[in-house]
Amino acid sequence: MSDTKIDFLIEKAKKLMSLSRDPIHDLSHVQRVVHNAERISTAYQLTKEECEAVKLAAWWHDVARVLTRKPSFVWMACVDDILSAIMLCLHSIRYGFWKHSGGIATKLILSKTVGTGAVFTKLLLTKRERILIHILRDSDMLDIIHIDRLTRVCELSQTSKKYWWGFRCLLLYNTRESAMRMKTSIAHHYLIESIEAIIQWMEERQHDPRYARFFEEVWIRESIKKFKLLHRKLAPIQQSI
Ligand SMILES: [Fe+2]
Repeated sequence: MSDTKIDFLIEKAKKLMSLSRDPIHDLSHVQRVVHNAERISTAYQLTKEECEAVKLAAWWHDVARVLTRKPSFVWMACVDDILSAIMLCLHSIRYGFWKHSGGIATKLILSKTVGTGAVFTKLLLTKRERILIHILRDSDMLDIIHIDRLTRVCELSQTSKKYWWGFRCLLLYNTRESAMRMKTSIAHHYLIESIEAIIQWMEERQHDPRYARFFEEVWIRESIKKFKLLHRKLAPIQQSI
């Protein structure tokens, strides 16, 4: 795919994501996922086409969030990958980008689908292409506990009960070792850095009265403990890829 063509598709994704009404799946989230994908990709000897496919998939992976005015925590998470893949597929075909990176990027997003991703991975991806889905998944997962995103959810918690609960569920779910296992060794390294940053972030706010409403002392103390335990469990692990 020529540089002009991939730039066109990236610009299209940027425009669409700037319309997102989902405050935690917005343009800034996608930009961080793209940044993660680029820095993880450099650790592997990918071809130009493979690098482009991962980058394109990262830009388009949440584009379906713009389809609704009321993005839900639950149902959208179940279908957004499939819808995003269809949107990228249609744009790729329409503008003659399907061959090469457009097609692979579409398959990567489909293979990331909640529930059916493993089946799509087996059906659609070659053995070589499987490293690409690992990079895409890890890039997205890493942003779950990014400080900027947590700060955003924390701010939203002040005005919305949904986000107040969402924030708690997010931390509860993501302090489990199985939920935060990265596939690639480089992403694992970035994850450990993120956990350290989050512990510091919470400790700094632990006694700040501005955060007292959603950081009850007992709750934040328990959360810090969970992240420290997670860090102790994950830090010694050596990833194979
Ligand atoms: Fe995402």
